[in-house]
Amino acid sequence: MFRIAPSILSADFARLGEEVSRVIAAGADWVHFDVMDNHYVPNLTIGPLVCEAIRPHTEAPIDVHLMVKPVDRIIPDFAKAGADIITFHPEASEHIDRSLGLIREAGCKAGLVFNPATPLGHMDHVMDKLDVVLLMSVNPGFGGQKFIPETLNKLRAARAKLDAYEAVSGRRIQLEIDGGVKVDNIAEIARAGADTFVAGSAVFGAGREEDPNRYDSVIAALRAELAQAGAA
Ligand code: DX5
Ligand code: ZN
Repeated sequence: MFRIAPSILSADFARLGEEVSRVIAAGADWVHFDVMDNHYVPNLTIGPLVCEAIRPHTEAPIDVHLMVKPVDRIIPDFAKAGADIITFHPEASEHIDRSLGLIREAGCKAGLVFNPATPLGHMDHVMDKLDVVLLMSVNPGFGGQKFIPETLNKLRAARAKLDAYEAVSGRRIQLEIDGGVKVDNIAEIARAGADTFVAGSAVFGAGREEDPNRYDSVIAALRAELAQAGAA
């Protein structure tokens, strides 16, 4: 019912394959892959070559979060590199419907990402092309930022929209949250309606470096909080 998607932005880039397989072995569901271009966001990270390099290290879905502008040119490259899900920001695409279509045509699940101040209305006329809606709970560009509390209200509004769509279409769109997710706030975020949780610094900052099972207890703690939220 709930998915945990560790963001490898906070992983050890010198040992990325190992980091990915360890975090999935610890019980995570998706690998969240943050792509930044120093243009749409003020930071520069990883691209399709790195996606291709980590692909053999796990069977878990790779969730590519594009923080790049333009969007369309790079979509097929990520699909070929083994991405399962590709999301982008509406502000970064000249033609949102076309970009979503390109992702689907490439065989991936498609999603839109909403910055803290981006209105949810961008999804209204493309619901049939969405598999995932991702709400940013920090401004995109960096790991380790603080969760913006107003996102909880926005999550409730997005949940209502997605539930209304499911009631008429029978199709469930996943609702993902990204930024500042920790053991002490994940339950509250789940209660506001998220079902998929990106966590970067909370996961990859855990434990002692020399411990091969260093991610087990933080993933278990996140899951325990989610179980409580689900039961409530
Ligand atoms: C921020 C990225 C996030 C980031 C989350 O632009 O999209 O995925 O890695 O990191 P934490 O969990 O540390 O806020
Ligand atoms: Zn992200």
